[in-house]
Amino acid sequence: MELEFEFFKEWVKKKLKIDLHAYKEKQLHRRIATVMQSAGCSDLRSYAALIEKDEQVRRVFLDYITINVTEFFRNKEIFDEFEAAINEVLIPRFKNIKIWSAACSIGAEPYSVAMIMDRHNIKGAKILATDIDDTILRRAKEARFKDGELKNVTEGELSKYFKKTGSEYFLSEDIKKHVQFKKHDLLLDPYEKNFHAVICRNVTIYFKNEAKNEVYQKINESLEKGGIFFTGATEAIYNPASFGFRKLSTFLYEKV
Ligand SMILES: C[S@@+](CC[C@H](N)C(=O)[O-])C[C@H]1O[C@@H](n2cnc3c(N)ncnc32)[C@H](O)[C@@H]1O
Repeated sequence: MELEFEFFKEWVKKKLKIDLHAYKEKQLHRRIATVMQSAGCSDLRSYAALIEKDEQVRRVFLDYITINVTEFFRNKEIFDEFEAAINEVLIPRFKNIKIWSAACSIGAEPYSVAMIMDRHNIKGAKILATDIDDTILRRAKEARFKDGELKNVTEGELSKYFKKTGSEYFLSEDIKKHVQFKKHDLLLDPYEKNFHAVICRNVTIYFKNEAKNEVYQKINESLEKGGIFFTGATEAIYNPASFGFRKLSTFLYEKV
């Protein structure tokens, strides 16, 4: 089975341009086995052939592997800290704030940032939002959300920024227009530079240490000096100095 996984990862890298070697093995193998069986295959070679042939099977595989769970203002107390850092650290330091939400899933994260900008009447901010997954980016651009994804949005902001149609909430153009979406793979693609904040949450937990460290280093290089890196609730960095960061709090790091 090990050899089969090696073959499969090589195949996925070549054909689908995703580097599964960098993801933690145990949970990745478990997920691949589950999604392979649900497609009715009993071995990885026939599953690879089916993925190649059948677009629907390919879609299901990619969705399952990339794990898209998210919500607005995820881990609200931590998001509040980031909001305070925007006001107290970034605004006094930089003009025309440029923020990157990496691995943004359906957009709840970058749109939360756009709402913060609106709350504080911060003009000229640019928010880039990226993900490896094309389908999820299409959904993000539509900006339609379900109840569960909005539980940290206040009643006031729900009626100010969203229009409810059936069971879905559609985000207003005023907020949407501040976010630009683009496909980007954190493991394989070059990183843009000159950001004042990079938000990269709940994705490096799936990467092996080596890959995770490389991502931290590249995020550091894509920030301006004095810019902020905002990590996930389970992604505290133990040795921030080795990546060129100074710890502001458990989930916020400043580029030195
Ligand atoms: C759990 S979601 C996190 C969403 C959001 N950042 C949050 O914290 O709520 C993980 C996202 O990482 C994306 N992802 C997985 N591997 C990636 C990679 N190598 N490069 C960029 N995005 C990736 C997935 O497609 C998924 O949308």
